[in-house]
Amino acid sequence: MSKAFEPIVVGNWKLPQRFVMAPLTRNRAKGTIPDDLNAEYYGQRASAGLIITEGSQPSAVGQGYLDTPGFHSDAQLAGWSKVAEAVHAGGGHIVAQLMHVGRIAHPVNKCGHETVAPSALPAPGTIVTAEGQLDMVTPRALETDEIPGVVEEFVTAARNAVEAGLDGVEVHAANGYLIHQFLGQSSNTRTDRYGGSPEAHARFAIEVIRAVAEAIGADRVGIRISPAHNIQGVLEEDETLTSAAYETLVDGVKDLGLAYLSILADPRSRLVADLRTRFGGPVMLNSGFSNVTELEDVEAIIDEDLGDLVAVGRPFLANPDLAERWAGGAELNVPHQETFYGGGAEGYTDYPTLTNS
Ligand SMILES: Cc1cc2nc3c(=O)[nH]c(=O)nc-3n(C[C@H](O)[C@H](O)[C@H](O)COP(=O)(O)O)c2cc1C
Repeated sequence: MSKAFEPIVVGNWKLPQRFVMAPLTRNRAKGTIPDDLNAEYYGQRASAGLIITEGSQPSAVGQGYLDTPGFHSDAQLAGWSKVAEAVHAGGGHIVAQLMHVGRIAHPVNKCGHETVAPSALPAPGTIVTAEGQLDMVTPRALETDEIPGVVEEFVTAARNAVEAGLDGVEVHAANGYLIHQFLGQSSNTRTDRYGGSPEAHARFAIEVIRAVAEAIGADRVGIRISPAHNIQGVLEEDETLTSAAYETLVDGVKDLGLAYLSILADPRSRLVADLRTRFGGPVMLNSGFSNVTELEDVEAIIDEDLGDLVAVGRPFLANPDLAERWAGGAELNVPHQETFYGGGAEGYTDYPTLTNS
């Protein structure tokens, strides 16, 4: 059998296998507060060993999409406690993906709160809101002296996640959201210490990760990056600048002993191999949206030692008992794209397991 099914110790957690549940936004936390349905969904997937939650805002300003959960109010934390209990009851671990969306936002989705980003440059395209599809707004560029306050939002949210009973956090520095907007060349035209050179572009990410690790312990903190993913208008088309920014980022946090570094990129790329060597700890891989991760992909990554872990998204979305199905060679449920974002139990908690189908 593939090494993908062997246990592994990652940070603070002993995991039963080397693939875990990737973060998946589902827009089903009504009013940003996780409820019993959300707890049931995550609890059903406890055999993933490690679940990374859907992207969740550390602050009201950091929300982008409708009905994404937060980690900044008592009501949200009470809801998260139920989620954590459900996952722990099934023997799993769960970490909060802290996603400050930066400019991928609209005030309509967050009670009128403003939108901030490294520079006053709108993302291209539109965003789904309660009032329909609206153009992305032009964000306000953060003042240099406001940035420690945003770092503090991540720290408070990380503390809140642990207090609510979750096992740690993943800092979302990928896919075009706030931290990635600082890293990227097209979305950051700052001339202060947070822009102008690859070292400066990486500074905000390093500050957030170091502060969060200090607050809750580095062995409970992961980070997700997507170098050169070119998504949501965050373009990293200059290879030299891009490599330099991510090398700076990894060099700036590798002494901490973080739980893992998650990279969304071609698992066989030179940059992935380079960052893995630099990081020195467990590296989690995922090749991105264009192809759904299959068991062969997981086995190739693990058995060829391209990475230590694989984040698996859509197969876990549609198969609560994916680990058992893959281990036993069983057929898989097919994910239904039309119920990915928003709605209720349909396409969320009603995917059958082998035992209840
Ligand atoms: C419905 C859906 C929601 C997603 N939400 C997030 C998210 O909140 N945070 C994140 O980092 N990635 C998110 N992703 C990306 C996944 O984590 C993963 O990288 C992607 O689905 C490719 O892996 P897969 O082929 O195993 O699904 C999302 C993907 C999908 C399909």
